[in-house]
This record gives sequence, C-alpha cells and structure tokens, in this order.
Amino acid sequence: MSKFYITTPIYYVNAKPHIGSAYTTIAADVLARWHRQTGDDVHFLTGTAEHGTKMAEAAKAAGKTPQEFVDENSGYFKEAWKKLNISNDDFIRTTEARHEKAVATFFERLKDSEKIYEADYEGLYCVGHEAFIKESELDDQGNCPDHKTAPEKIKEKNWFFKLSEYGDLLTKKIESGELEIAPENIKKEVLSFIKQGLDDISISRPNVEWALPLPWDKEQSIYVWLDELWNYQTAADGNWPADLHLVGKDIIKFHCIIWPALLEAIGEEWPKKVFAHGFFTVDGQKMSKSLGNIVDPVEVAEEYSVDALRYFILRDIPFGNDGDFSHERLKERYNADLANGLGNLVSRTLNMIDQYNIDVIPAPAVPSRSPEGRSGEPESSALATEISDSINQLAFDKALATIWEEIAKADQLIEEKKPWELAKAGKDDEVKEVLQQLFNTLIQVNIALAPFIPETHEKLTQLLEARPLKKPSEPLFARKD
Ligand code: MSP
Repeated sequence: MSKFYITTPIYYVNAKPHIGSAYTTIAADVLARWHRQTGDDVHFLTGTAEHGTKMAEAAKAAGKTPQEFVDENSGYFKEAWKKLNISNDDFIRTTEARHEKAVATFFERLKDSEKIYEADYEGLYCVGHEAFIKESELDDQGNCPDHKTAPEKIKEKNWFFKLSEYGDLLTKKIESGELEIAPENIKKEVLSFIKQGLDDISISRPNVEWALPLPWDKEQSIYVWLDELWNYQTAADGNWPADLHLVGKDIIKFHCIIWPALLEAIGEEWPKKVFAHGFFTVDGQKMSKSLGNIVDPVEVAEEYSVDALRYFILRDIPFGNDGDFSHERLKERYNADLANGLGNLVSRTLNMIDQYNIDVIPAPAVPSRSPEGRSGEPESSALATEISDSINQLAFDKALATIWEEIAKADQLIEEKKPWELAKAGKDDEVKEVLQQLFNTLIQVNIALAPFIPETHEKLTQLLEARPLKKPSEPLFARKD
C-alpha cells in the first residue's frame, strides 16, 4: 500500500462554486476514489481561500462583515461538494485557527532562511488576481486584460522573497522530472517562463484589510497567495509531500515556480507532481457574471443527476485541454451514453435473465487493480490495465471511452446472438452462456465506473448482487427529451 496525497486549489469564496471549480474537484475526486480502490492510503484535500482585499470588498458589497461573509460562502462550497459526491478527507479554510497558526510558523521559518529582505516597491496591483501585474501585461485601456479593471498604483515598503535565486534549480528539477509537470505544453510554458529570468516576489504589503499579519512586523500583511499555498502543508496530516496538486492552467506559476522555491528555502520536500487542466467556455462563450452564463454544477446535477454531470465533464473534454461546456452536448451524451448506452444494457440484460429465469453464476471475483492481482485473469485484466493506464495519465476521457467500448461490444453480442431467438429454439445452454457473458461485462464495467459515477455504481451493485436477480424497477437514467 502506498500513500497518495492529492489536492485541489482552494477556492475563493467571493463567488459561489461554478462549473470550473467543480471540474477540478470532480477530477480530483475520481483520482482519490480510484487510488482508494487500488488499495492506496489516500489523503484528499480541498477547501476555501478566505483572506484578502477581494474577500473584504465582496463582503462589503454584500453588507456583511468579512467573517460572516466567508462563513456563509465557504458553506456553499461544502454543500456543493457534498451534493456532487466529493469524497474529500479534509476541508481546509484559510481563516481557521489551525491554518493561521501554521502560516505564522511558516513565515518565521522563511525569515530564518535569510531568503527574504525588506525593500521599497513601486508597481501595479490587480485586486482581481491578488497579484502584481506588469505594465506590459495591461490592455490598450491600461486595464487588466482578465478583469477589465484598472490596477492600483502602489508605492510602499514590502518584504521580498529571493525567487530570482531559484531559476537553475527549478529548471533542473523540472527537466529531470523530479518535479513532474503535466501536460507537456504546461511544462514547456513553465520552463520558458523561468528561462526569461525570475524576479524576486513581494510577500507582504502594509496593512491589507482582512489578511494575516507578518509575525514580526504587524504593520505588514502576508501576501494572500503565500497564505493560500501553505494550506497544502497545514492540512497534510503527515502525508507531505503531496503526490499531486491538481490546478487550473491559470495558477501554474504559483504552483510550479513560487511554491517549490519557498519549500526549498525552508528545507521542505517539493510536491511530486502538478497537473494543470484547461479552462471552460460555456456554449462557446467565456463564462462571466456579466454574460449571465455561469453554470451552477448543482443545478445541472439536479436536472440530470450528479453522475450525469460527473460523466459528462470528464468524458467530453480531454483533461488538460481547454473545452466548451455545451448544454446541447450534455443532453446528447446523457441520452446516447447513459440512458441508451449503459442504462439500456443493464435493463436489457437483467430483463432477459429474469425472463428466461437464468441462474447466473455468482459474481466472478472482483479483479484486483494491483499489478500482482492481474495475472490469471487475462480478459478482465487487459481491460483493467488499459483503464488504469489512462487514469494514471489523467486521460479520463480515454478511460471512459474504453469502458463504453465494452458496453458497445456487449450490445453487439446481444444483436448477434439474439438470445430471444435462441430461447425460442430451445437452445437453453446457449442462452445461458450469452447472458452469463453479458452479466460478467456488467460486473467489470461496474467496477471500472465506481470512481467516476459512484451513485450509479452503488445502484448497479445492488442490482447485480440481488438473488434471485430481478429486473430493475426503474431505469438507471431516464431519457431526456
Ligand atoms: N485561491 C486561488 C487558488 C489557491 S491554491 C493554493 C484561486 N482560486 S479561484 O477560485 O479563483 O480558482 C481556483 C481554480 O478554479 C482554478 O485554478 C481552476 O482550477 C478553477 N477554475 C476557475 N474557473 C475555471 C474555468 N472557467 N474553467 C475551468 N476551471 C476553472 O485561484
């Protein structure tokens, strides 16, 4: 048994959970569940980022104190993840005492490292990003191109971290794979950014509202991103280093450059891997409040089912690429793959077993996904190996495609063998053989699907384990028109 510590970014609570945050969280959940299934000791962490100007401003706009505001909004994330069947082992909030204490110790250690210094800073700060922004990055109107707002001009005393010293080490460890960065295009992007030369970064600013103070200089507030990054350590629960940080491509510099350098400075191990996924548009457009097209994952789950949402977002877009969340395609895939594909195969098979009164052999032994368990089960192990290779590469779409190929093969078997004709002709042995084969496929498929669509897995397990085996009283997925 090996340990597997997986994290999602911690989400800003100034917005409610949307399809983007649900995407990272669902993907992490699939990996956590899959590792548990293979026998690993999993620690799955998610949570919320609750400090900083952005939160204070949002609280003011909502007429609440920052504390009331973050308490309420953090609750939305907890609730949403519960509804989406997220199996996190811990949920960290940056306003918790355990975290605030841990961050203070982290900063003491940074100070001891002598990799920080005090200096004046003059520059532009984008509150939307909670980060400094360069003049050359602004759009024609002098605004942040992502947030369309003018950055604040700042001239102040800051504490700085000597990030500029870590370029060579980062390059070496990333190139050698000691710090694995995937997909390949993201790794290249990170390497080329380092090659341009790294600047030191500001790690504190004077008197920011709703931020943690520097332990040795209370006039200075800790830069929220450092507070946030440390969450992975606060809640590691003895599992450090992280095996995988799952992030969106927007925050790779923080995770692939700043975070490892900070850890190096204080003598901590680096995370083993960072994987960055792409961004969603919605029906071809950028998702934004002003366009009113923000997709609420809980609403989608209520309309279609949690599993339909989980299946769709991982099946439709190769993980790592940018993609479009299309309502039309969601419906198409729901009907084709879930209602007509999986659902239909289950009901056809169980109906026939019931109708022809077949005494299916008790479920064959669950094939183990561990390498030792693979021998001696050639057919199922080939499938399990293919799926497990895809999941290890975070190619969820491929893993699901492989599972659906099995479903298609089973459908084909029914069409070719026509059990109803065999039954009419009195060929009972052949009927039994075909139905046993279909039943075995359902069992294999059900095991493979468990991390992806856990609710359906539970229902299907009950159906397949019932003796005598009965036809389902309702479809697993009702068709949508
Ligand atoms: N608080 C920081 C993360 C700190 S981690 C130490 C933050 N929060 S965030 O709420 O703005 O975004 C977190 C993540 O949400 C992004 O990295 C990304 O994973 C996900 N997404 C936000 N919008 C998204 C899309 N439109 N599409 C896909 N994922 C998106 O950054």
